Amino acid sequence: MCGITARVGSGDAVDELLSGLRNLEYRGYDSAGVATVNADGLDVIKREGEIDVLCGSVRGSSVRGRTGIGHTRWSTHGPPTDANAHPHTDCLDRVAVVHNGIIDNYAELKEELSTHEFTSDTDTEVVPHLIEEFLSAGYPPEKAFRMAIDRLSGSYAIAAVFAGTDAVFGTRSGSPLVLGRSPERYYLASDVPAFLEYTDEVVYLRNGDVVTIRPEGYTITDAEGTTVERSVETVDWDPDDAGKGGYDHYMLKEIYEQPTALRQTIRGRTDALNRRVDLDELPEGTFSGIESVHLVAMGTSYHAAMYARSLLADRGINAQAFLSGEYGSNPPPVDGRTLVVAVSQSGETADTLSAVRAIQGTGARTLALTNVVGSTVTRECEHTVYIRAGPEIGVAATKSFSSQVATLLLLCERLNHATNGATPRSTSDLLDSLTVLPDDVQQVLDESEAQTVASAYHDCESYFFLGRGVGHAVALEGALKFKEITYDHAEGFSAAELKHGPLALVTENTPVFAVFTGRDDTKTVHNVKEVRARNAPVIAVTDGSHTGATEYADHVLSIPETHRDVAGILANVQLQLVSYLAADMLSRPIDKPRNLAKSVTVE
Ligand code: F6R
Repeated sequence: MCGITARVGSGDAVDELLSGLRNLEYRGYDSAGVATVNADGLDVIKREGEIDVLCGSVRGSSVRGRTGIGHTRWSTHGPPTDANAHPHTDCLDRVAVVHNGIIDNYAELKEELSTHEFTSDTDTEVVPHLIEEFLSAGYPPEKAFRMAIDRLSGSYAIAAVFAGTDAVFGTRSGSPLVLGRSPERYYLASDVPAFLEYTDEVVYLRNGDVVTIRPEGYTITDAEGTTVERSVETVDWDPDDAGKGGYDHYMLKEIYEQPTALRQTIRGRTDALNRRVDLDELPEGTFSGIESVHLVAMGTSYHAAMYARSLLADRGINAQAFLSGEYGSNPPPVDGRTLVVAVSQSGETADTLSAVRAIQGTGARTLALTNVVGSTVTRECEHTVYIRAGPEIGVAATKSFSSQVATLLLLCERLNHATNGATPRSTSDLLDSLTVLPDDVQQVLDESEAQTVASAYHDCESYFFLGRGVGHAVALEGALKFKEITYDHAEGFSAAELKHGPLALVTENTPVFAVFTGRDDTKTVHNVKEVRARNAPVIAVTDGSHTGATEYADHVLSIPETHRDVAGILANVQLQLVSYLAADMLSRPIDKPRNLAKSVTVE
């Protein structure tokens, strides 16, 4: 959480810093600030509230300069106030610092710096004060920055500017920091969309790297201080992909991008002629000797992992899905026959990274399944498969779930071949369904009855979501989306669990969404009858192939007929639309749900 921007080069920095912060707002939005280097020293301006508040203050100020840093905050230490907003400075205003992450040893450093006057509750503020110590001892800015960084423990990405120095110094350890390169300017940011408008040339920095950007170029040194070259990559994201493109919210735009995202996800990976799955990232033999699969993830990604667990079980593969936050603190036994798959849209979720770290040295094999090229999880795992969904900005994950599940489906097929020796033809129905999946999603988007459902039920007191097998994962995801953006109580269950407790909560004022995906649909129809008998309104998400599913429902959200492994993706799109429309009717801040941030980089 928290987003960092920095920039040096020709022209004024302020507008570019602010537009970068807007593109990083998904990482936190409770306060924001910028600092620039000017002829007399540093200008710092920071405000509690969203970036618009900061923009208003900047407009009325004289803050200018071609070198600067910016920050949008998601509070960890101290409430969102002007004082706790970044950048933070030293007592003499010689250095300003922005930070994403947590400095674990800040309390002990603060004690050591007891002669300094601290003005915030943050862990970050120790950094400029430490740097001040080294400046006062006579070290030049770059050396003082590195000496201060060497004293920190925890996870961080940091950028700093110094009075009288036309440069930005940055470093990362456990939190993301990328460098953008254009002919006349250089950028640092927590994520590429911050500077995508200005350049598509990106350097992904590694843990321990210290980078200096100046108007004339940049240098990177590694943790040992040795100058290193890092490859420059060109990202193929369209800057418009990272904007709202005419939609009211990023979330809605990303829901509607799903057909395109899925085409990108699947492109070149299914060979319909030869009935094969091609994941070129994984050479033949990658899974030899694998006997069990552990999927580790949080939130929406965990639901995608649960979906995949169900698919692997169907294929006779021993698989479990774990909340990575639990797995990291209490890992089950693993060995060289275990494949640990870390599923993470951002590739930066601290819980998921710590799950991967927890099994390092055990011989377990690791695979990252992520959307973000060069993200930390790709560096921590042996193999990486990208879901290729394009940038996802809305805090509520949407298109990434569909692309995660589609990619996991392909992975399951590869694992099936590797572990069961299944014949290539076993995938034929599935490959056909995957090929038409983008069109099927488009059909759902074009013909959805979600508006009627959201209008009928958006002011109820509680919402329940039921499903079996992959439908259970979709029910949990439907409920998560609903609670995140409507702030209403919503809970997902396995339909099998209904009579074992949840039924006590069902009343005529608790709509029940029943997800049918062609697995044990008859049993789910029984559950529908049970909630109907308690007068609860029922909304069935179904392709209509089981007549009971529609017969006992008050409303139907239709999905096209497809392979049962794919049906859950279509059902989920219907539930995304209902959540979005209900939240919109309730005038919720859909792209910035309270207390949440897109990327949870602290445990
Ligand atoms: C929910 C949501 C979160 C994330 C979770 C994991 O809409 O977005 O629950 O799914 O924080 O994030 P990643 O996938 O980046 O590891």
